[in-house]
Amino acid sequence: MTSTLFTPRQIGPIEIANRIVVSPMCQYSAVDGCPNEWHRIHLGTMARSGAGLVTVEATAPERRGRITHNCLGLYSDDCERAFADILSSVRAVSDVPLAIQIGHAGRKASSRRPWEGGGPLQPDEAPWETLSPSGIPLTENGPATRAMTEADIAEVIDAHVDAARRAARLGFEMLELHGGHGYLLSSFLSPLSNRREDAWGGSLENRMRFPLEVLRAIRAVWPQERALAIKYNGTDWADGGFVPEEAVMFARAVAEAGADMVTLSGGGVVLSSRPPVAPGYQLEAARRVRAEELGVTVGAVGMIYAPEFAEQIVSDGSSDTVALARAFLFNPRWAYHAATMLGAEAAYPPPYERAHPDKWPPALELLDAQRRRPSG
Ligand SMILES: Cc1cc2nc3c(=O)[nH]c(=O)nc-3n(C[C@H](O)[C@H](O)[C@H](O)COP(=O)(O)O)c2cc1C
Repeated sequence: MTSTLFTPRQIGPIEIANRIVVSPMCQYSAVDGCPNEWHRIHLGTMARSGAGLVTVEATAPERRGRITHNCLGLYSDDCERAFADILSSVRAVSDVPLAIQIGHAGRKASSRRPWEGGGPLQPDEAPWETLSPSGIPLTENGPATRAMTEADIAEVIDAHVDAARRAARLGFEMLELHGGHGYLLSSFLSPLSNRREDAWGGSLENRMRFPLEVLRAIRAVWPQERALAIKYNGTDWADGGFVPEEAVMFARAVAEAGADMVTLSGGGVVLSSRPPVAPGYQLEAARRVRAEELGVTVGAVGMIYAPEFAEQIVSDGSSDTVALARAFLFNPRWAYHAATMLGAEAAYPPPYERAHPDKWPPALELLDAQRRRPSG
């Protein structure tokens, strides 16, 4: 059997060695936006995971765009220097293409870390003012959020451009804009959070305007030989929210604005949304966008963890790539294991070669054990 999952894929001007993407995952471990030893080891591990592309977690273009006090940022020379230091280690052990996700948290900023209970920062926890399209708080009794003025909009676009310039200097092969999960760009797309009556709200064309302006402004400074991508909601999974038909129209618009890749995710705009979480639950939007043949690479994400299922998704035309998040935290060797299960080859680094199943047969026993369902 030949595996499509383990064949290369072009994303605009760059090529990735296989269709497996490490999805961005907030580590909530930075200090004033700067990555540190945690990120060095974490990203080094992901870079050696055998995936074709590794995406660095949501990184804020300005300080108030962080979700928590401990989210990454790319808004200062200190942050840029810290990134350069971490990346020199990662690059020394792997030549996998690296993407950085630039994401502004919007009204979901000023939150506690998940393991500290999540939810909004309390008055004694140094909260900050958050920005949103219409000043509608995330929850009814939640902290206020300020509706953006024209000046705010221009300022936030500039912050994205500055962050993109820094990311370009750092040598990232791809920049992914975070346009999903209810964060700032997503909150403009969704009619649930965007009730503006000016040129930035109302019709789909108007709701798309801000994310598109950000994308165009970044494209203007992002090197042509690097890829530009956006992850956004195929659906908000909520009544009255963004729907797959709109996601298809947005894909067309971002392709025209210069995006090379779109990844279809979902949810997070309102806390009441209930995604039907199950393997491949977000595939429908990816399929619809891919069927349009827009000339962009399409990514699928969401509960994709069985190698055979990942293989099916990219070989039956549902999507060009699959992004995995939790599966890579659980098993950073996922891609090596998947290759064995699918009869493909992953490039073992020489120091690890003795663990290859051809040389060390117990590997097959371990993989077999993984397949078995827990009994009882
Ligand atoms: C710990 C953690 C942090 C995450 N942080 C981000 C993030 O920074 N940006 C993003 O777009 N999605 C983020 N996500 C969502 C994942 O990228 C992915 O879309 C989601 O977990 C579904 O994929 P999975 O079923 O493979 O985990 C995060 C998920 C987890 C588990």
